[in-house]
Amino acid sequence: MKILLAGGAGYIGSHTAVELAQKGHEIIIVDNYSNSSKKVIDRIEKIISRPLEVFEADIKDKESMQPIMKETKPDCIIHLAGLKAVGESIENPVEYYRNNIDTTLTLLECMKESSVKRIVFSSSATVYGEENPIPYVETMKKGNCSNPYGWTKYMMEQILEDAACADKELSVVILRYFNPIGAHISGEIGEDPQGVPNNLMPYIAQTAVGRREHLTIFGNDYPTKDGTCRRDYIHVMDLANGHLKAVEYAENNKGFDVFNLGTGEPYSVLEMINAFEKASGVKIKYEFGNRRAGDLPEYWADSKKAQEILGWKAVRTIEDMCRDTWNWQKNNPVGYA
Ligand code: NAD
Ligand code: UFG
Repeated sequence: MKILLAGGAGYIGSHTAVELAQKGHEIIIVDNYSNSSKKVIDRIEKIISRPLEVFEADIKDKESMQPIMKETKPDCIIHLAGLKAVGESIENPVEYYRNNIDTTLTLLECMKESSVKRIVFSSSATVYGEENPIPYVETMKKGNCSNPYGWTKYMMEQILEDAACADKELSVVILRYFNPIGAHISGEIGEDPQGVPNNLMPYIAQTAVGRREHLTIFGNDYPTKDGTCRRDYIHVMDLANGHLKAVEYAENNKGFDVFNLGTGEPYSVLEMINAFEKASGVKIKYEFGNRRAGDLPEYWADSKKAQEILGWKAVRTIEDMCRDTWNWQKNNPVGYA
């Protein structure tokens, strides 16, 4: 199948490109590198041992996207392009709504004009908001998001659902990721956030490699077993495999569907530090700080639906996630720079 990865040079897109290419699919990457490096492309090509078709473009710009869609005629789009920093979205909400919503609208318009009928979308556990019981199930009510980033995901899901409702030939698969971490086993590609990392795992990895002095744990007075927040961390290559299954599902099923992608097993911040220290042999300096606004004490996925319908299950352990993160970080102490 010919698959266009919108935002394919990013963290999840690059790993998904490898997974799909290695399963024989033809990959097209479109990215404006607003949160990624062009060097990613060489690394992916090195792993898969063949060249990729790559376009540098702003996906929200229809003038740029139309000719790409017409020229490449993909069978399926995977829409990963978006701004994703929660704190930044609170500071610059308009930028987040503009970029995230417009990329989605432009892709849908271009799909219509080029008769592309399948799209897989990167959503997030954040759409479950603040009031649902755990574990999260796809049928639960969405909304009550604590930040504009979350609302963009909520709105984009709605836009895609309406599009599928209007065009019965369309296949829309929403993937709600939990907490993706880890890296490709080769150590060639991995997570390389710009500036100070917002997320736990890259912060731990950069502390281990000496780029950060110490980690601050955001709160140790939560009602959890060790007082720190618990999350459902999932290996990025398991997530990449979820996209493969979703693309195959979209080929054979029309309509709108939603799947959680998580392991169903939460780990606390202290457990993650411990697991990383074991995998790397490096002691992580940390101190306890205040709670971070908007953080929930704990949540994890019920991913039975993905298992039953997509035939997907996360298979990699927390040890694999920490080992592969460390392998990437120690081989690339300053990321792709
Ligand atoms: P990322 O920032 O590494 O990748 C996103 C890519 O999209 C980047 O390469 C960026 O340059 C590109 N991009 C953004 N706006 C664009 C535009 N207008 N035109 C062209 N390219 C554009 O992020 P990621 O971690 O790989 O996440 C991929 C998707 O998954 C995002 O939509 C994100 O919201 C979603 N998601 C991520 C997580 C996570 O923890 N990483 C969790 C849940 C959902
Ligand atoms: N944490 C720290 N110190 C840090 C960074 C994080 O203690 O320096 C803690 C957080 O407080 C939280 C846990 O580590 O308890 C995980 O935090 P992350 O920022 O790694 O992940 P989140 O669960 O907050 O957010 C992730 C994605 C969001 C997405 C959300 C939805 O980053 O994009 O999951 O589930 F919206």
